[in-house]
Amino acid sequence: MNMMSESAVEKALDQKMSDASHKMIGKDVSVYYGEKRALFDVNLNVRENTVTALIGPSGCGKSTFLRCLNRMNDTIENCRVTGKITLDADDIYDQNIDVVELRARVGMVFQKPNPFPKTIYENISYGPRIHGLSKNKADMDQIVEASLQRAGLWGEVKDRLHESGTGLSGGQQQRLCIARAIAVSPEVILMDEPCSALDPIATAKVEELIHELRANYTIVIVTHSMQQAARVSQRTAMFHLGQLVEENDTDKMFTNPDDQRTQDYIMGRFG
Ligand SMILES: Nc1ncnc2c1ncn2[C@@H]1O[C@H](COP(=O)(O)OP(=O)(O)O)[C@@H](O)[C@H]1O
Ligand SMILES: [Mg+2]
Repeated sequence: MNMMSESAVEKALDQKMSDASHKMIGKDVSVYYGEKRALFDVNLNVRENTVTALIGPSGCGKSTFLRCLNRMNDTIENCRVTGKITLDADDIYDQNIDVVELRARVGMVFQKPNPFPKTIYENISYGPRIHGLSKNKADMDQIVEASLQRAGLWGEVKDRLHESGTGLSGGQQQRLCIARAIAVSPEVILMDEPCSALDPIATAKVEELIHELRANYTIVIVTHSMQQAARVSQRTAMFHLGQLVEENDTDKMFTNPDDQRTQDYIMGRFG
C-alpha cells in the first residue's frame, strides 16, 4: 500500500469538497500602485460561511488583497489589479459588473468606526433606501430592527434610534457599521482590522458577533492580532512581502504550519 498516493487521494477529495463551497476565488491576483508592485500572483479562495483571517507583517498586502474583493482599489488613483476574482459565477472585474451592486453583495467594515453623522436609524436605512430594498416605512423599520438585532446592538439602541450614531461608544459604533453592512443583505463581509480602535471588552463583543455572523455570511477579516485570528477564524492566510505564503485551517496554521515563514511569524520572529 502506497501511503503517499493514499494521502494524495485524500487531499484531492478534500480539495474537491472545498472547491464546491468556494464563495470567492482569487486567481493570480497582482496589484500595482503606480510602478510599485504590492501583490504577486495571489491564489486564494474564500470559503462560504467561513471566517477567513488574513495575517502577516505590516505592509505585506493584507488590506490591498481585501480591497480587491469588492473593488475598493478602484477608488485609489494609480492602483491597478490584474488576475481574476469571482464571486459565485461572476467575474467581479468584468466590465458589465455594477460596482455599487457588487459592494452591496460584498460589504466592508473599516478599521476606524465610521458611522455617518446622522441618526442610528438613518445609518442603517441609507443603504436599503438607495438599493430600493424596502417598499414602505414599516418595511424599513423591520430592516433596521433586524440589522441591529443581527449586529447585537438592538437592545442597546432601540430607545434612541433617532439620536446620532456618532454619540455611541466606539464599540457600539463599530457594531453599528456592521449593522449598516448587514442591512443591504450582503453575501460577503470584509473587515479590515475592525477591532484595532476598540478596547478589550468592545473587541470581545465584536469577535463574538463575527463568530455568530458566520452562519449567514462569508467573512474575510484582516487582523494584526494572531490571537484574534485564532479566536475568530476557521481558515487563515498568511501574507509576506506581497506574497501569499500559506493558507490553511486556522488550527493547523497556529500549531503546525507548513511554511517556515508562517512559523517564524507566529513565533514572533518578525513583524
Ligand atoms: N494607496 C497606496 N498607494 C501606494 N502604495 C500603497 C497604497 N496602499 C498600500 N500601499 C503599499 O502597498 C503595500 C501593501 O500595503 P497594505 O496592503 O496596506 O499592507 P497591510 O494591510 O498588510 O499592512 C505596502 O508597501 C504599502 O506601502
Ligand atoms: Mg492594512
